Amino acid sequence: SSLFAPHRHLEPMLSLDNAFSLEDLKAWDQRVDGGPYLCEPKIDGLAVSLTYKAGKLVSAATRGDGEVGDDVTANVMTIAGIPHTLAGSNHPDQIEIRGEVFFPLEEFAKLNQDIVKTGGKPFANPRNSASGSLRQKDPQITASRPLKMLVHGFGAWKSKADSQSQVYELLSAWGLPTTKKYEVVADSTAAHQYIQQLESDRHSIEHEIDGVVIKVDNLARQRELGRTSRAPRWAVAYKYPPEQVNTKLLDIRVSIGRTGRATPFAVL
Ligand code: IVH
Repeated sequence: SSLFAPHRHLEPMLSLDNAFSLEDLKAWDQRVDGGPYLCEPKIDGLAVSLTYKAGKLVSAATRGDGEVGDDVTANVMTIAGIPHTLAGSNHPDQIEIRGEVFFPLEEFAKLNQDIVKTGGKPFANPRNSASGSLRQKDPQITASRPLKMLVHGFGAWKSKADSQSQVYELLSAWGLPTTKKYEVVADSTAAHQYIQQLESDRHSIEHEIDGVVIKVDNLARQRELGRTSRAPRWAVAYKYPPEQVNTKLLDIRVSIGRTGRATPFAVL
């Protein structure tokens, strides 16, 4: 985007391979050769990478093509809950922290109501509103939107932790917003139970989720498994089917144009 300066990530921001069924999950389980697995919600937000140097937030960027994203530092600095200075001590000289910026669902409904009241075009979904709110030339506008972030990993960093769950405890101790919804489970059967439980709880969460991310918890094993050009081999996204709702057709009416042309339309 010409609005923002390019930011080259130190480590690429990858994508995730998808699983859509228990069979897919079992096939992945066989490839990685077993748990324990860390399960957590897949946040339907906007991927952002934060760079901290000696505990100070120095830059924030969107994913872009995975190698180079947009520098949105000034805007991200306005998001409540993202520390400008890390808590605690022993911070690395440099660390890239990855997570999702999202628009909380309740506030999203309010924002759209306000936009419609003032004659504007509402956002199609919370994800678009998060993206639109972050990609503002004027950080004051971003500041006026109740964006939030949850972090779920790291890029460039020589981590001394043993597991993904230990990393979360450390990031949380540094004051970074981590999910409370993660669980470490023994195997793919337990991971599948987590997936089903979260699907029935999905409306109790303050952001939209489009599935569950399952990660090999052990970091040494993650490094062994490595990645393809596109995605890590040590993680998989189990995607929920898109939600379906019913819409009731109340009436079919006809509008008559200036030239007498009749156009039927639906009242839903
Ligand atoms: S881990 C190397 N954990 O989903 C990528 N990603 O569809 C590791 N996402 O690009 C990502 N929630 O931006 C991870 N709990 C979560 C996530 C998550 C959402 C995003 C992430 C990724 C995309 C892939």
